[in-house]
Amino acid sequence: MITNPFLDPDRQGELYGHDARLASRSTALMRARTAGRPVPEAIVQLAQAHQAGAGRRLGLVADIGCGRGTSTRVLAEQLRPQRLLGIDASPALVAAARRRVGHHPGTQLAFLQGDFHHLPLPDASCELAVAAFCLYHSPEPGRAIAEIARSLVPGGIAVLVTKAIDSYKELDALVAAGLDPRAERHESLYATAHGGNLADLTKPTMDVVAIEHEEHRFEFSDLDHAAEYLATNPKYDLAPGLYGNPGALAAALHEWHVDKPIATTSVITYVVARSERGQS
Ligand SMILES: C[S@@+](CC[C@H](N)C(=O)[O-])C[C@H]1O[C@@H](n2cnc3c(N)ncnc32)[C@H](O)[C@@H]1O
Repeated sequence: MITNPFLDPDRQGELYGHDARLASRSTALMRARTAGRPVPEAIVQLAQAHQAGAGRRLGLVADIGCGRGTSTRVLAEQLRPQRLLGIDASPALVAAARRRVGHHPGTQLAFLQGDFHHLPLPDASCELAVAAFCLYHSPEPGRAIAEIARSLVPGGIAVLVTKAIDSYKELDALVAAGLDPRAERHESLYATAHGGNLADLTKPTMDVVAIEHEEHRFEFSDLDHAAEYLATNPKYDLAPGLYGNPGALAAALHEWHVDKPIATTSVITYVVARSERGQS
């Protein structure tokens, strides 16, 4: 039995069958952030620092596991590549990304449904590939990273982004008191591709050129705000009616906790890698 919901094919529809869960999760979390660079902008900075395109306008850029297109939009605005492709397994999120990213004159923009284990990209076609906060949905993220390597032109750059395995542990402690006694013992959602192993997963197929860890700090203003985020977290065993229902979850939290701001952290890891084909 698969116990990690991020790895369970049967739960992907619940997680990404529409864009509402991801939208409210991201909105609640971003409202709480008190420290840490916006991730899409950090991806662009790293790509530029490591000379993706080496001073010329980039050809094809792929945003793999693009979700609602949050990074895709920033890649379009700030890198203005000739072609930009968002790829995601979820048709609903592909549609949401297409809607949200809109039109960017001068960049041929497309969104495709696809699996990062079998990328719909020819060999050696892509100058920059981004995979943010998605590789931990694979039981074998090394296979997806090998696919990214295959799709890169010689010397092409990948920027891979993930979270620390113990991200948001203070929220687990909050839920453990009263709501789910095992909250701190469930497998991390980020177990297969996290800050501690992402570079090692990349080394077999690409040349790792930089690793950056950046602590992001969050302060949820009160229990209601924390509940907005926690209600989207599939790893807890909550009483029926609480998962997906921030109002009911907030009411349950209020029964167990005095209302106060709740601080938590997540270390974000960026791995920048270059296609090894470029080394020969
Ligand atoms: C947490 S979202 C991240 C979205 C986006 N990259 C961001 O940073 O906001 C994870 C995304 O990975 C996608 N995903 C999960 N498994 C995938 C797979 N096998 N192939 C492609 N995308 C996948 C999901 O559909 C979801 O959109």
